[in-house]
Amino acid sequence: MNHKPMDGAQDDARAELARGTGRTVYSEAEIRGKVAELAAAISRDYAGLNPIVVGVLKGVIFFMSDLLRAITIPVRADFIAISRYSAQQKIKGPVRLIKDLDENVEGQHILFVEDVIDTGLTLSYLLRLLRARGPASLEVCTLFDKPQHRLADIRLRYKGFDLPDRFVVGYGLDYREAYRHLPYVAELTPEVLKIA
Ligand code: IMP
Ligand code: MG
Repeated sequence: MNHKPMDGAQDDARAELARGTGRTVYSEAEIRGKVAELAAAISRDYAGLNPIVVGVLKGVIFFMSDLLRAITIPVRADFIAISRYSAQQKIKGPVRLIKDLDENVEGQHILFVEDVIDTGLTLSYLLRLLRARGPASLEVCTLFDKPQHRLADIRLRYKGFDLPDRFVVGYGLDYREAYRHLPYVAELTPEVLKIA
């Protein structure tokens, strides 16, 4: 069987998906390597603690699933969902909880997992919320960090990569819900951002 025409069609489909993106910032292979490193460190540090790994929806879905599959100790997974948008949709409003955790975290070791931390305001809200529930420990693992805009003082126990001070998409990061499922992280071209 000749697979060539099908491969060509798939390449075309990928190109269509990536329309509007520019330079690749982190490739699939780079991300895979970093996720493995983070998972190894977490597996070592949390051995015997049966932690609850908490992902912040939706941007975290790919990182969370890849990270969990690379972790070699027993963990539980839970999710929290928030919205940062006000009724007018454009400006960042106060953090609003859309979905709470399923698990009772009192006395448990919590590892918070985030896709990207920018100002840190979202995360500091969530950390305050969970700290009030009396966990045994509360730490943060983020794949990407944009330290330039930090407004809240947050300690990151695990961190993957620093990002340039640019808007990027892919591997969970979206632009108006588009590009989230690109398997790598890329910049957006100025043309796309201009028509925002
Ligand atoms: P902050 O740390 O409260 O400012 O918000 C972090 C959130 O902003 C992330 O969870 C993303 O949803 C979003 N965000 C920040 N930078 C980017 C980016 O470059 N691309 C896509 N989303 C981003
Ligand atoms: Mg997020």
